[in-house]
Amino acid sequence: LMEVKTIEYLISSPSEAMCPKEKRAEVAFIGRSNVGKSSLINMLSNKKEIAKVSSSPGKTQMINHYLVNKDMFWVDLPGYGFAQAPTRVKDNWIDQSLAYFKTREQLIRVFVLVDSRHGLKKSDEEFMVFLDSVPISYQIVLTKCDKTKQTEIDQLKTDLELDLKKHSAAFPDVVLTSAKDKIGLYELRGVLLKLLQSPR
Ligand code: GTP
Ligand code: MG
Repeated sequence: LMEVKTIEYLISSPSEAMCPKEKRAEVAFIGRSNVGKSSLINMLSNKKEIAKVSSSPGKTQMINHYLVNKDMFWVDLPGYGFAQAPTRVKDNWIDQSLAYFKTREQLIRVFVLVDSRHGLKKSDEEFMVFLDSVPISYQIVLTKCDKTKQTEIDQLKTDLELDLKKHSAAFPDVVLTSAKDKIGLYELRGVLLKLLQSPR
């Protein structure tokens, strides 16, 4: 199991070109605005407030790097699919984040977070097609499972895993999580540890 001994917030970068240059293994957390990306990073790190959380969408700005165990980067990103954001902000986000995913060489896995109450939205599908095209290995993480009935979660997981077969860069298994109830903590840490140990 991956033990998080230390986690430090390093830097918020406005573009890929400004991101830390050290060649460490890196994983990124992405998904629609308000899906729970920053909360999941807090759960995984055992720190309540290392990443900024808000009930209103659009909280996380820029590309936020955290250094874990002085060895690995975790990246918290702004959400997509935030319809209320001004067009200028949306365009800027799309430019900067697509450039990040296309050019960040040390990025070994992207966790695409999906709200367990809503399932896959069009913006998720579009983003997954983009990741397939790069390609970057990604894995779906269902969030806020404390808010959803177990039978609905099981059905969603089954449907999703079927759908994922159509996506060439998708990891076949879906991880169920709740940052509120700390569901999925050990499973995700296991995934992270495996990633760290796999040859690059
Ligand atoms: P942006 O940075 O705006 O894109 O949002 P985000 O994806 O980082 O979401 P964030 O972690 O800020 O959480 C959004 C809201 O969802 C907050 O009010 C959280 O408290 C809530 N939330 C996050 N995870 C969970 C969860 O597992 N269960 C419940 N019930 N609420 C959650
Ligand atoms: Mg956030």
